[in-house]
Amino acid sequence: MLKANNIEIRFNTRVLFENVNLEFKDDNCYGIIGANGAGKSTFLKILSGELEPTKGDVILGKGERLSVLKQNHNEFDEYTVLDTVIMGDYRLYKVMKEKNDLYMKEDFSMEDGMKVAELEEEFASLNGWQAESDIAVLLSGLGLKNDVLYKEMKELKDSEKVKVLLARAIFGNPDVLLLDEPTNGLDSKSIMWLEEYLINFKNTVLVVSHDRHFLNKVCTHMVDIDYGKITLFVGNYDFWYESSQLIQRQMKDSNKKKEDKIKELEDFIRRFSANASKSKQATSRKRSLEKIVLDEIKPSSRKYPYINFEIDKVLGKEGITLENVSYVVDGKTIIKDLNLNLTKSDKIVLIGTNEIAKTALLNIISGQIEPTSGTIKYGSTVKLSYYEKNHSKYFKDDSNLIEWLRNYSDNKDESFVRGFLGRMLFSGEESLKKVSVLSGGEKVRCMFSKVMLERGNVLLLDEPTNHLDIESITSLNEGLKRYDSALIISTFDQEIIESVGNRLIEIKSDGSYNDKQISYEEYIEKFGLDDIN
Ligand SMILES: Nc1ncnc2c1ncn2[C@@H]1O[C@H](COP(=O)(O)OP(=O)(O)OP(=O)(O)O)[C@@H](O)[C@H]1O
Ligand SMILES: [Mg+2]
Repeated sequence: MLKANNIEIRFNTRVLFENVNLEFKDDNCYGIIGANGAGKSTFLKILSGELEPTKGDVILGKGERLSVLKQNHNEFDEYTVLDTVIMGDYRLYKVMKEKNDLYMKEDFSMEDGMKVAELEEEFASLNGWQAESDIAVLLSGLGLKNDVLYKEMKELKDSEKVKVLLARAIFGNPDVLLLDEPTNGLDSKSIMWLEEYLINFKNTVLVVSHDRHFLNKVCTHMVDIDYGKITLFVGNYDFWYESSQLIQRQMKDSNKKKEDKIKELEDFIRRFSANASKSKQATSRKRSLEKIVLDEIKPSSRKYPYINFEIDKVLGKEGITLENVSYVVDGKTIIKDLNLNLTKSDKIVLIGTNEIAKTALLNIISGQIEPTSGTIKYGSTVKLSYYEKNHSKYFKDDSNLIEWLRNYSDNKDESFVRGFLGRMLFSGEESLKKVSVLSGGEKVRCMFSKVMLERGNVLLLDEPTNHLDIESITSLNEGLKRYDSALIISTFDQEIIESVGNRLIEIKSDGSYNDKQISYEEYIEKFGLDDIN
């Protein structure tokens, strides 16, 4: 059980939400929805105690334990996988560390001996001896091999990190589980595993997600953050969507009726207020007129950014040519003898689950890494723009949004930069906030501004829909349909694959690849996708 008591949070003058009074109960799964930047992650941070609200307090059931999966996946890079997961049960982790530190002591005293005995007892009561095997079972359920346990987190790829962090969150069966975008970076098999896990989970779950399918599958309730309010609905995402549409229609109808009534009353007053015999009636109608309140209809504060990738110069006949490109890491072949000729009309989608290979190929084409063998030739007109999947390095400094984007713009004029930010939905005071506080989706929108300013005629995009809300995904999709030059995109978004792509490349687990100019549906039917796990 988790209770939010009169919570309010404001940053400077902006109130994210206020008067939040909600209770989250056992055996329910609450899906938290809202636009990018609405305050979902902030709400979870308040509930977990990481962030102090401006007003109000949070109450956790007596003796209950809460655990969290955060949106940022790089927090534990310096720890081993085993420690990262055990730390999810912080009490157990502390007992274990304290105990081990005492054993390591050279001048081990009597007192230490007694303390160790106490700690051993507590360790056993917390199921400490079983922890390692429990963790191994959890990780293998998520498709990770046992040899991963003693690796450091920074050695893992992003999709593996998410799995470990997920295991950390659910380790030791917490009473309240908070998950911030858990499906981001997960493959479909692991998503299915997580869905089953959450459906069977007996305690309280709060999960932030932009994935409608996932929300429908696991949620019993929806929590919508919009207009500085947090509203609770019973039912899954589709049910919330339909009922909120219905409420809007009803409000519109009832407003229409009220407007008619107002007009009628106004007519009456106008006609008869000068007429002495009717003026009493007119006065009373004036009073009824004053009583009619039109319900304020707020469709949603969700907005569409304007994403449009323009080019500086047309890509000439010579695009990019890869000849026999191979890429090997630690003796494992990631890409094998890849040949590719990229021209202006190519809209290539990198499909399949081999994320490492897809990112490696984009890194090779963008020149960020060298292939192990093979050659790449660039035509003289080629101008690259690359949207990288892992872009946290761009947001480490202390600058505000205007200063940040100005770094990437030839035109340093403030009004020009502000115009660009406005299109990405940062206006007024919003453009003065520090880039370090941006939400996941807001960072992606900033990266898009950077890419748009580069005006490249070869666009490379690595999973650009991660973190984005539905409105931004739609805008991105439209922008990509309009883009009139060469494009390589790695994405799982079926709508984008089908409406943008005209050529599909899948790199398989052994590094070999398919390169086909057919529809996605046909591809799946003919070849299926290689199962990397
Ligand atoms: N310390 C801060 N100062 C000013 N603004 C902040 C601060 N921390 C967060 N914000 C702003 O608060 C808003 C909510 O951020 P939050 O990360 O909660 O959004 P979100 O709903 O999780 O979005 P997303 O879907 O993109 O992850 C954002 O506009 C963010 O820039
Ligand atoms: Mg967030």
